[in-house]
Amino acid sequence: MRELEIVDSPQGTTRGEVNVEGPVQAELLEKMHLNKGLTSFRPPDKQLEALIKISNLPEGMIYTARNDEEIIGYLTFHYPSKYSRWSKHPRVLELGGIEVSPDWRRKGVGSALLEEAFANPIVENYIVVAIEFCWHWDLRRTNLGLSSYRKMMIDTFKKVGLEKYATDDPDITEEPANVFAARIGKNVSLQDVSLFESMLFLH
Ligand SMILES: CC(C)(COP(=O)(O)OP(=O)(O)OC[C@H]1O[C@@H](n2cnc3c(N)ncnc32)[C@H](O)[C@@H]1OP(=O)(O)O)[C@@H](O)C(=O)NCCC(=O)NCCS
Repeated sequence: MRELEIVDSPQGTTRGEVNVEGPVQAELLEKMHLNKGLTSFRPPDKQLEALIKISNLPEGMIYTARNDEEIIGYLTFHYPSKYSRWSKHPRVLELGGIEVSPDWRRKGVGSALLEEAFANPIVENYIVVAIEFCWHWDLRRTNLGLSSYRKMMIDTFKKVGLEKYATDDPDITEEPANVFAARIGKNVSLQDVSLFESMLFLH
């Protein structure tokens, strides 16, 4: 668990404490609510249902950033969808999504979620992939252009070892701004690494 004290600048007043923790179990998620600004993937009530569902999946993991009972940010891991080529790889885990409420952004919460999630030794047993669809990016509320946002995501993911890889995965190539990043855990066998590399380009 990481505790962050969020201070508003330039006033210097404390907005509140944020606890970053996980994997959070479904029973705990059911007692919380999602901040209303968390709308990048679906409306907050539906997104909370999705988080609860993921937390019950095999290898599903939810990390939350919480101010009291309110989730103000979250990060998910799950197995790739059966429609994705990565579901054919036995050691691939997907970083499904990361989101922080606009009210709490640019205070290190997103980075803390990534650091907490990648401090879990279980990630060393997997190749974690992040399939970043640019249509989920919040260009309006971050006030960033597409290429600056893309760079911000690549740089932020790189800090936890997620490196950008070229691929012909149609999920990525259908929109040039999309990004595919992966992190190869320390305990992944050479055979599984070679299989991953051979799956980057299938056509
Ligand atoms: C991407 C996102 C999770 C970042 O959350 P956050 O709490 O603002 O992240 P942090 O405060 O830890 O910032 C991470 C880095 O990005 C930079 N950054 C974040 N927002 C920025 C902005 N609007 N303009 C410039 N830089 C920005 C920070 O300065 C920081 O860089 P540093 O580590 O060099 O200081 C948040 O913007 C978000 O929820 N976006 C909508 C959902 C989304 O795009 N998810 C990703 C696709 S799955």
